[in-house]
Amino acid sequence: MPDNQFKTETHTFSVMISEQEIRKAVQRLGKELSQKYAGKNPIFVGILNGSFLFVADLVREMSVECEIDFLKIGSYGNAMHSAGTVRLDKDVSAQLTDRHVIVVEDIIDSGLSVTFIRNHLMEKKPASMSFVTLLLKKEKAVVDFPIEHVGFDIGNEFVVGYGLDFAQRFRHLKDIYVTYD
Ligand code: IMP
Ligand code: MG
Repeated sequence: MPDNQFKTETHTFSVMISEQEIRKAVQRLGKELSQKYAGKNPIFVGILNGSFLFVADLVREMSVECEIDFLKIGSYGNAMHSAGTVRLDKDVSAQLTDRHVIVVEDIIDSGLSVTFIRNHLMEKKPASMSFVTLLLKKEKAVVDFPIEHVGFDIGNEFVVGYGLDFAQRFRHLKDIYVTYD
């Protein structure tokens, strides 16, 4: 087994995006956001659980002051396919009214979660809201608002690592792996 692959009982996973490539993308996104939000004291809202590593790395690429909060959603479904319903598990603690909000997602797949989150946070009347996602399944995602900041466009494929899980496993991996099984 090559060292850019691992196997479980049911699936083979291969490196798709390396740790180095992730770091480069996160640096680029940090630069973009630092320019866009200079002097605005934006608040990052990370979506748990998947975005925890991405948020941690992204905010360390910010050269302007910012704040950080988290929101947790759950989707009913199995390990690889969400069931099409989203619920709010934990709301943000911060007051978002009149704040510049940057929502941080690990991955946008169908677009359902990010649409739910946008509708939910808009009710808090932020001054602005923009979206950053490390991965975007461009051909699959249906969203009727712009996703301004994207790390990587990927196909309709299942990935794990760097925060992303398969039934809660593999979030700790430094690279992003894909499986076709
Ligand atoms: P959406 O609501 O269909 O856009 O799905 C978003 C959520 O599903 C993400 O935040 C992930 O938790 C999960 N998800 C979607 N695609 C993948 C994947 O390829 N690997 C791991 N989790 C995924
Ligand atoms: Mg998941």
